[in-house]
Amino acid sequence: MVLSKTDKALLSSSVGKIQAQATGSDVLARMFASFPQTKVYFVGFSDYTAKGPRVQKHGLTVMTKIIEGIQYLDSLRSFLDALSAKHAHELMVDPVNFGFLGECVLSSLAYQLPDFSPEMHCAWDKYLCEFAYLLAEKYRQTSTDGSFRKNGIFVSLNCSGNNASQHALNLLFFSPLVRFAAV
Ligand code: HEM
Repeated sequence: MVLSKTDKALLSSSVGKIQAQATGSDVLARMFASFPQTKVYFVGFSDYTAKGPRVQKHGLTVMTKIIEGIQYLDSLRSFLDALSAKHAHELMVDPVNFGFLGECVLSSLAYQLPDFSPEMHCAWDKYLCEFAYLLAEKYRQTSTDGSFRKNGIFVSLNCSGNNASQHALNLLFFSPLVRFAAV
């Protein structure tokens, strides 16, 4: 963890000032507006603004977790273990989206906290980057034979696996360079 003592103190000092409900809804509304592709994971939502009832409910869930994590800065990996597994194996959220959400948290805090100083901004940025990295931890874990657990079924990712070979062929065939060379 790259957080300094000062970063940790700044993060802890901001906790009591954040309203998890209001910030959480605002964060999700910003994510849906700025990165509309993230809506595909929430197709059941009828209103993607901060006033949407499901945006409010899920916003609170997400922001509570982010705030709670500040109590576990020295053991963030184990704190996020189950949540990482859930996003990787059950929800199958592309981890690139964690960074998008982090950007929206920063914007929302800057908008809402009067003392969001450059130092506080830096501490939150570092924390959210670490958070996103560790939330993606389970995506990197494979079993010893190189397979990845997907909905209870092990999908082979090693080079001799049929899926991998087929994928390599597809990549080669659909590569513009190869097609250009073929004509
Ligand atoms: C980076 C910060 C994030 C945090 C802290 C977070 C936190 C959570 C939590 C606590 C839950 C509930 C888990 C449970 O019920 O056991 C959840 C569910 C979920 N998350 Fe995340 N999440 C994050 C990012 C994302 C992103 C970026 C997406 C997609 C763009 C996403 C999609 C989902 C979905 C689809 C669910 C299930 C919602 C439902 O059941 O209604 N998450 N998340």
